Amino acid sequence: KTPDRHVPRDPRLIRLTGIHPFNVEPPLSNLYDEGYLTSPELFYVRNHGAVPEVDDATILDWEFSIEGLLEKPMTLTLKQLIDEYEQVTVPITLVCAGNRRKEQNQVRKSKGFSWGAAGVSTALWTGVALSDVIRRAAPKRGAKYVCMEGADKLPNGYYGTSVKLNWAMDPNRGIILAYKMNGELLRPDHGKPLRVVVPGQIGGRSVKWLKKLTLTAAPSDNWYHIYDNRVLPTMISPEQSANEPKWWTDERYAIYDLSTNSATAYPAHEEKLCLINATGTYRAKGYAYGGGGRRVTRVEVTLDKGMSWVLADIRYHEDDYRDNSEENEMLFGGKIDMGWRETCFTWCFWEVELKIEDMAISSDIMVRAMDESMNVQPRDMYWSVLGMMNNPWYRVTITKEG
Ligand code: MTE
Repeated sequence: KTPDRHVPRDPRLIRLTGIHPFNVEPPLSNLYDEGYLTSPELFYVRNHGAVPEVDDATILDWEFSIEGLLEKPMTLTLKQLIDEYEQVTVPITLVCAGNRRKEQNQVRKSKGFSWGAAGVSTALWTGVALSDVIRRAAPKRGAKYVCMEGADKLPNGYYGTSVKLNWAMDPNRGIILAYKMNGELLRPDHGKPLRVVVPGQIGGRSVKWLKKLTLTAAPSDNWYHIYDNRVLPTMISPEQSANEPKWWTDERYAIYDLSTNSATAYPAHEEKLCLINATGTYRAKGYAYGGGGRRVTRVEVTLDKGMSWVLADIRYHEDDYRDNSEENEMLFGGKIDMGWRETCFTWCFWEVELKIEDMAISSDIMVRAMDESMNVQPRDMYWSVLGMMNNPWYRVTITKEG
């Protein structure tokens, strides 16, 4: 039984947690084939509970408040947000902190469910800079965090978390309140009618079905801020972490920026490559992303477990949006503000020609990415109790036939 009967869903999505709540990823090859922008139908979904129902007839009346350490706390409707603030449209990749957790669970069971490598998707988001709304509400001295809360009522209260106020005010961090993805109103699973989108950080900070923003002196005390989205030290077991709350309240272990990561879409894991008539090469392909607005600057592939590497070609489609913003403005009815030029908030695609003669009958193809600060994916896994931020070299095993 699901309370989400009002929500249309695509049968291609792979369910990771049974019927309810809805947590799905698309098949990796479909995700890759869709290209730079993921359609709302195939966009991964991470819901902690039931999807709030919103009536289309009154969607513009949706209200959210901004309160706490402010001179002018206020309540805004979606209509006011659209009418009174400058609109922006920007491409942003969202990634669940649990992306690739399945590999961690194979080593040792973590407390989370098994995402493959498709807990990541990209859309063109339309909305308003969060900084514009906060500036109008005039923060008081001492305000350091922006707490965000959704309308989904869960066993431990409403879903909520926080980010630092200075990130919210920084144009290079590009945090927005979005009501459209890829030019159409948000779908119910993705926060209809209004959500936060925090670029470069784990998806868990991008609160859906936004109802409340609160400026505070301390990070959020919401249950989901404390007991979710953390990388605890590796020796903490599921039992220990359950018994000792101190591990959870230590803000040092909270995850914000994404880690550098990559995955291979072609070939698929355990694919049999039929290479009888092949020309001597096979073109491997996949995605990569960096965290905190940092660009991936190289992707390397190895066929001999890291003894030698081949450099892949990288394509950043984001640059297309920088170059022809007028055309995109017409297409998506909003200003494409690439004023956030210094930072990069989307994934890139990589491709590389591999020599078939270099592959054994059964071969590992491993890939790693590096970002502009030279953060490189590690060889070894860092296991932790929530199984998050998994980013060692991504491995697919193939068998060569013919
Ligand atoms: N916001 C609310 N209100 N409730 C949620 O369950 N899940 C978070 C975040 N925002 C969540 C939420 C998590 S963990 C992720 S990864 C992203 O939403 C997923 O966004 P998506 O479902 O649009 O892909």
